[in-house]
Amino acid sequence: MIYTLTLNPALDRTFYVERLVQYESIRVHREERYPGGKGIDVSRVIKQLGGESIALGFLGGYTGREMEGRLINEGVVGHFVWIRDETRTNVIVHTREGGEEIRFNCPGPRVSPQELAELMHHCRHLRPKPEFVVISGSVPEGVDPVVYEELILIFESQGARVILDTYGEPLRKGLQATPFMIKPNRTELAGLVGKELSSLEDVVSAGKELHRYVEIVTVSLGPEGLVGITRDGTYHAIPPKVEAVNTVGAGDSTVAGMVLALKRGLDIPEVFRYGAAAGTASTLTPGTATVRPQDFERILAQTTVKRID
Ligand SMILES: Nc1ncnc2c1ncn2[C@@H]1O[C@H](COP(=O)(O)OP(=O)(O)OP(=O)(O)O)[C@@H](O)[C@H]1O
Ligand SMILES: [Mg+2]
Repeated sequence: MIYTLTLNPALDRTFYVERLVQYESIRVHREERYPGGKGIDVSRVIKQLGGESIALGFLGGYTGREMEGRLINEGVVGHFVWIRDETRTNVIVHTREGGEEIRFNCPGPRVSPQELAELMHHCRHLRPKPEFVVISGSVPEGVDPVVYEELILIFESQGARVILDTYGEPLRKGLQATPFMIKPNRTELAGLVGKELSSLEDVVSAGKELHRYVEIVTVSLGPEGLVGITRDGTYHAIPPKVEAVNTVGAGDSTVAGMVLALKRGLDIPEVFRYGAAAGTASTLTPGTATVRPQDFERILAQTTVKRID
């Protein structure tokens, strides 16, 4: 089974308004409510591409209950640990007149030591057995970034291969537990190695520095696709040029495509091709990390992988 883990999920509420006017009450024409968070996004795309996964993480309060219900309606299976504080809400305001998008990211819940311990216990006893675990996104308040290192060790002791998609301190600490793969974008990798990475060669040599910790370093490069660095070879997966509608969550869709290809036993160049194609397909829909299977199939056929070492 594939598992995804989101320690800091959020309910995204998008308000559609005509324009923003000071000192007047503003009519919201339409509201969308969407369960988000990076691991949850990965689970959603796995489902859309015909795969199965179980989402793990923390949920709390009425917002948590709503997220749980919405996920069930999307066909995303979740085994969550319940916390006392309320799950985070983000508010996004779209103005029709100016075409602006304004985002308010509310503070997240505080996770108590007891709640964290319950999650660790849950993760030590996963049924069905975890084959792949995707750990994505940020660490909530009250939890030390070392948590990812500990969780990776817990998953690996059950025979799982772990994919870590985060940045900053949690990524640095997580590397110590030698996950199977990481998927930074160019900026996240630059932050990790402390260098500017302007050319493709810079990206490849920075990625190679990390081979003492991970087997596969996948660096996503937006419209330029991705570079996949393994000990046996380095590859560049190049998607076709598209009119992108929304690139938020493209990286999560990439991770979903890759883990599905790995689970299906496809060879390494094909895993990179799936990743780039799923990421690019997700940019064609307005929803965050939302992939139409027919877009994926079409883009996959137009995505090339070339060996670059
Ligand atoms: N503008 C674009 N045009 C075509 N493909 C894109 C574009 N942006 C992203 N992609 C595809 O999606 C993949 C992942 O994108 P990106 O590098 O932006 O990830 P990311 O920064 O981790 O995104 P996020 O964290 O928001 O999910 C790329 O490798 C590429 O295949
Ligand atoms: Mg990302």
